[in-house]
Amino acid sequence: MKRAIEKAQNISDIRAIAKRRAYKMVFDYIDGGADDEKTLRHNSAAFDEYRLAYKVLTGVDNIDTSTTLLGTKIDVPFFCSPSAGNRLFHTEGERAVAKAADNMGTIYSLSTLSSVSIEDIANLTSGPKWFQLYVWKDRTLVKEMITRAKAAGYKALILTVDLPVHGNRERDPKNGFTIPPTIGLNQIWEAIKSPAWIWDYLTSEPIRYANIKADLGAISLAEFIGQQLHAGFTWDDAEWLLGEWNGPAVIKGIVRKDDARRAANIGFNAITISNHGGRQLDHSPAPIEVLDEIVQTVAGDAEIILDGGVRRGTDILKALALGAKAISFARPYLFGLAAGGETGVNKALDILKTALRRDMALLGARSIDEIDRSFIKKSQ
Ligand code: GLV
Repeated sequence: MKRAIEKAQNISDIRAIAKRRAYKMVFDYIDGGADDEKTLRHNSAAFDEYRLAYKVLTGVDNIDTSTTLLGTKIDVPFFCSPSAGNRLFHTEGERAVAKAADNMGTIYSLSTLSSVSIEDIANLTSGPKWFQLYVWKDRTLVKEMITRAKAAGYKALILTVDLPVHGNRERDPKNGFTIPPTIGLNQIWEAIKSPAWIWDYLTSEPIRYANIKADLGAISLAEFIGQQLHAGFTWDDAEWLLGEWNGPAVIKGIVRKDDARRAANIGFNAITISNHGGRQLDHSPAPIEVLDEIVQTVAGDAEIILDGGVRRGTDILKALALGAKAISFARPYLFGLAAGGETGVNKALDILKTALRRDMALLGARSIDEIDRSFIKKSQ
């Protein structure tokens, strides 16, 4: 696998290696989306509606890919989105991703539903870290997690708001997917096909939600979310949460300009345009197609992050040209993780950084600040 990772040219090659290595139910959990997976596919396809009108003779021998996000300097205009249970994909789990993000000089964001704890990740690197929150039914647990994240030095809170209930991801129940994963008689054949993954799984510490004490046994994510998370959460509760956190805050999962305006009005410092990677409401709009109207509506009152469908350097350029301050993603690095742990995550991030540098030179932009709307043409 190591050689295949070295030779990978793009994120799609990394995905193919992940598919070969990982247990089917685990690969499908990363790869899949809701219902007919229309939004999953559309998130990437929608980038095709935009063209990049490059400038020539701008002197592009020195390309600077660095920028700032919520006051934090980062070496690339992208970072790793939060994602659940990373030890499912490779035993190095969240540790591999946090180290790779640190290597890349960018932000790492840890999911509430991580399989390595808030404190263990905080102690691993000195790089900037944000903490993502799902809202638990139990408010004491919410307060406790915020306090722990703050004490451990996480700089910003990401509130994810597009998952009041679990999306209908049909691959998961078909595969009998649970957390921790189970390998019963029905799954044995698939398990035999992924020996490296199975070996990892059988020889490393048990996979569990590391930030909560309760041991809920092997249940589906849908059951877990229904039992534990608070579907009744409203804008008033979001304001309460901002008060409890009392620090830089990001709201993730917005696709409408009225919601974006409201989020900025109540004090969110950044807005992540996202439909949860097509894993929640199928037929929701692709982030890139609502970016422009949200940027215009928020008009500088909050920074805008685009999350969804990014696979190429040109996708990053299109989002920046339309006014995003940065891009975040999960599948590209999760495919890397499932393909080969930290080596795979490093490779996935490196592919995107190399592509970005090359594409900035071809675009005629020497720095991120220079990437403006003049470079974008919408297809007719
Ligand atoms: C969890 O956030 C998921 O999308 O599976």
